[in-house]
Amino acid sequence: MFRVLVTRRLPRETLAALDSAGLETEVRADDTPMSRGELLERVGGFDGLLAMLSDRIDEELLEAAGDSLRVVANYAVGYDNIDVEACTHHGVLVTNTPGVNTVATADQTMALLLAAARRTCEGDRMVRRGEWTGWAPTQLLGLDLQDATLGIIGMGGIGTEVARRAIGFGMKVRYHNRSRRPDVEQELGVEYEPDLHRLISDADVISVHTPLTPATVGLIGRRELELLGPAGILINTSRGPVVDEEALIDALEHDRIFAAGLDVYTREPEVPEALRRLENVVLAPHLGSATHRTRAEMGRLCVEALVAVSRGEIPVNALNPEAVGR
Ligand code: DGY
Repeated sequence: MFRVLVTRRLPRETLAALDSAGLETEVRADDTPMSRGELLERVGGFDGLLAMLSDRIDEELLEAAGDSLRVVANYAVGYDNIDVEACTHHGVLVTNTPGVNTVATADQTMALLLAAARRTCEGDRMVRRGEWTGWAPTQLLGLDLQDATLGIIGMGGIGTEVARRAIGFGMKVRYHNRSRRPDVEQELGVEYEPDLHRLISDADVISVHTPLTPATVGLIGRRELELLGPAGILINTSRGPVVDEEALIDALEHDRIFAAGLDVYTREPEVPEALRRLENVVLAPHLGSATHRTRAEMGRLCVEALVAVSRGEIPVNALNPEAVGR
């Protein structure tokens, strides 16, 4: 029997799919992250691990898992929580959930962009506190998206869907990416900018869609925020460490940028008090993929990967097929 440890409570559909796939699963009933200690203690003896982005899969964990572990199915498209090289070395396949998170994350990006530009949450707080004294010509003025320039950093699937939505709002879209995307340029009429700093200084809004890698840690720091300028808006739905959080707090506190919309943070679930105190930032609790359909699809890809490995096959979404036979 192929034994799978599921580190967190999952949507019903996924639990049912695991069941009907005939895998022997141990599902942690709790909806809080498994502590490091618990994970290390429980992981031994399983063939598969259905892991969350909050589970760090590294050398120490692989050693605790022992020789039986053959696959880590990560319930996320991002896999910066996993040392893929170490997994390969241990002969453990790693899979993620590409494609299925794209639309929901693009929608969440637009939700944050609209809320930051139009000060929606600031207004909501004002109303709730009973401080609204009625319509006023100068109250909570924000940015028109029509004719504003959006600079997308990272034109993969999510960046492309954000571009599509922003164009619907009448925004001009430019992008920066490791490699040029003539297909997206042709389809959507977006413009490539090879110089990241020029992209930022020409934009009214910057939205970050790069994976977290050593090369992207702190990609948006003091200099970049300065280039964005006092009317600029920063949106981050990728990974927290891509933005230098301290530099961002400083820029927001001193109105060196207009606003930010964040779905992700440097040390989740910790959100610095200094950030929580600020009015000019919209703070979401990492909800990019949080729709019923998307989470069910993420679960489906994880289950399919586990089933494939249980049959001795390499899943289509394996990140390190070379792990087989090590
Ligand atoms: C991902 O998939 O990487 C998201 O951040 C969580 O769903």
